[in-house]
Amino acid sequence: MANTFPRWCNLLPLKIAFCLLSVAVGLCAAFYYGATPKTLVVGYQPAQPIPFSHKIHIDQLGMDCRYCHPFVEVSGHANVPSASTCWNCHQHVQLESPRLAPLRKSIDPAYPGYDGKPIEWVRVHKAPDYVYFNHSAHMNRGVSCQSCHGNVNQMDVITHDQPLSMGWCLACHRSPENFLRPLEEVYRMDYNAQSFLTQHPQPGVQSPREFGLKLKERFKVNPKTTCTTCHR
Ligand code: HEC
Ligand code: HEC
Ligand code: HEC
Ligand code: HEC
Ligand code: HEC
Repeated sequence: MANTFPRWCNLLPLKIAFCLLSVAVGLCAAFYYGATPKTLVVGYQPAQPIPFSHKIHIDQLGMDCRYCHPFVEVSGHANVPSASTCWNCHQHVQLESPRLAPLRKSIDPAYPGYDGKPIEWVRVHKAPDYVYFNHSAHMNRGVSCQSCHGNVNQMDVITHDQPLSMGWCLACHRSPENFLRPLEEVYRMDYNAQSFLTQHPQPGVQSPREFGLKLKERFKVNPKTTCTTCHR
């Protein structure tokens, strides 16, 4: 019997499979880049209306987070400061700096371009709407800003430091003892459990891990991992 199909047809299934695979990979990549909000991507670092530097204000000037994020202990949201918080100092300091023009536009009636509108800071961290998150529940239980936002005191521009993914949240909810600190250390960016223990010996505590377990007991911390904790 004569060959109905030419020889090259032998490779046809393979070629079709390869094409389908390419399309699938392409779709996944497109979905990944298109559908993941920028606010969930580590390294996200948008330009801000004023080149505000946390490094200058925290490391050089020694400011506390709560001066500018005062609701973080009592509210679900940390909030960014209003222009009046900056104005407390900048009506006296660096007033003529061109970098502060958007601040004066917002708050200084003596400034030619004054319009009184709030400064439009670009949001860097944003959990999806179906996720419930609460800052104060963490701050008052010995979880530091640093564990979730990184070394903010070294950032000239705020960068998305941690993934804020579900697996990441759960890793700490399952073993909080690896992260807990004494409450007065929560806002510090240079905490080190070992040196804290050297300076403040705790009865029956040798290692940072034992200290974590002790704090867990002291704060009566037992983070929930049920779905409704974070999805309500
Ligand atoms: C002098 C005021 C000031 C101080 C002090 C300050 N911040 Fe901020 N913070 C801001 C401003 C203004 C923004 C918004 C602009 C930006 O993202 O840089 C901001 C933004 C942030 C963001 C990103 C918010 C977002 O959009 O997701 C984080 C995280 C943050 N601050 C953490 C901290 C931590 C932690 C400390 C203490 C170690 C601190 N800040 C101290 C003024 C301040
Ligand atoms: C406690 C006082 C204080 C507060 C509050 C404060 N700053 Fe500053 N800021 C300073 C000082 C002091 C400097 C100068 C640091 C230096 O030159 O080394 C500075 C420097 C700056 C600079 C750099 C200016 C330049 O041209 O070099 C910017 C921009 C700035 N601050 C923005 C802000 C914004 C925005 C806020 C409010 C979110 C704010 N600051 C709140 C004290 C403050
Ligand atoms: C347990 C992790 C965690 C800790 C601890 C934490 N944050 Fe956040 N932060 C987040 C998450 C998650 C978001 C996004 C929240 C959302 O979209 O509702 C966020 C958002 C923010 C924002 C953006 C505005 C807002 O209110 O959502 C600021 C500002 C901020 N954090 C500052 C701080 C400061 C300052 C501290 C320490 C005093 C701190 N955070 C401690 C996880 C944390
Ligand atoms: C570094 C550790 C750590 C990380 C990261 C963390 N948590 Fe928590 N979380 C805790 C601790 C500790 C508590 C307090 C538990 C308690 O009071 O028993 C808590 C409490 C909570 C609560 C309050 C639960 C209640 O009973 O009201 C919510 C909601 C929550 N976390 C959501 C999240 C979400 C969402 C993320 C990720 C975006 C996250 N957490 C990341 C440690 C963490
Ligand atoms: C400690 C907080 C926390 C708990 C507990 C939690 N989640 Fe989540 N979940 C999150 C966060 C944060 C996200 C968003 C992650 C992201 O977008 O990267 C998320 C995302 C999801 C998504 C969307 C996933 C996606 O890829 O789009 C589903 C589905 C989900 N969670 C189901 C659950 C179920 C089911 C449970 C209970 C077994 C649960 N979650 C418990 C924090 C939590």
